[in-house]
Amino acid sequence: MQTDQQRRQYLQAMVIQTWLLRRPESRCLEEAPISENVDIHQANQVVSALEQPVVATDWHGLQAEVSVCRRCDLCQQRNQTVFGVGNPDADLLVVGEAPGAEEDAQGEPFVGASGKLLNQMLLAIGLKRENVYIANIVKCRPTDDRDPRAAEVAACEHYLKQQIALIQPKIIFAVGRIAAQNLLKSDQKVGDMRGQKFEYGDSRISLVVSYHPAYLLRMPSAKRKAWQDLLFARQVLNSK
Ligand code: URA
Repeated sequence: MQTDQQRRQYLQAMVIQTWLLRRPESRCLEEAPISENVDIHQANQVVSALEQPVVATDWHGLQAEVSVCRRCDLCQQRNQTVFGVGNPDADLLVVGEAPGAEEDAQGEPFVGASGKLLNQMLLAIGLKRENVYIANIVKCRPTDDRDPRAAEVAACEHYLKQQIALIQPKIIFAVGRIAAQNLLKSDQKVGDMRGQKFEYGDSRISLVVSYHPAYLLRMPSAKRKAWQDLLFARQVLNSK
């Protein structure tokens, strides 16, 4: 059980004031909409990805398959694939965007500065990193930490789908535009998707959208909204 003092400490670590501000919230920049530019090279990558055999249906087989994946060009620059981390029976699945440099070096998602903030966000609603599952839309680091391209997302999509089918979480917490837009097949802004309970695919798993921790590090004024999103996610989880 988490004490109020612990919760305050986690919230302080997130640099969230635990009382309501009287002044109006400062306006934050929203994350930009997804690019619709898909070139012929990307299209060819999608076609070749779709021609590949179906992904493994068991956890270890899936992990092994991802570790040697060459479905898109991201395999050329990576140090290693980043499958995911946490409890494969978790009630809550966090989905981020893509590994960065530290994740690529360690083979684990969200281990850099964003990861530290994500851990604190989870603790603030009483969840330890090891008790949830954390995965990304793509399993390899895009060079220079650019957004993953549509073809790369398409090439990797079956892996995450299969992870979700095996974990069967009660709720998916999608952090950031890339995760939210790709999971929901939407081009809405994160700011417009927040505060709603969506359903993911045919499984109709509840899905809640929030800001990416990296965005929160750049825009600390958005942390209050992220805290509201976490409370909403907790409420949805508690209702299951
Ligand atoms: N950002 C993400 O979206 N995922 C990671 O694993 C690390 C940073």
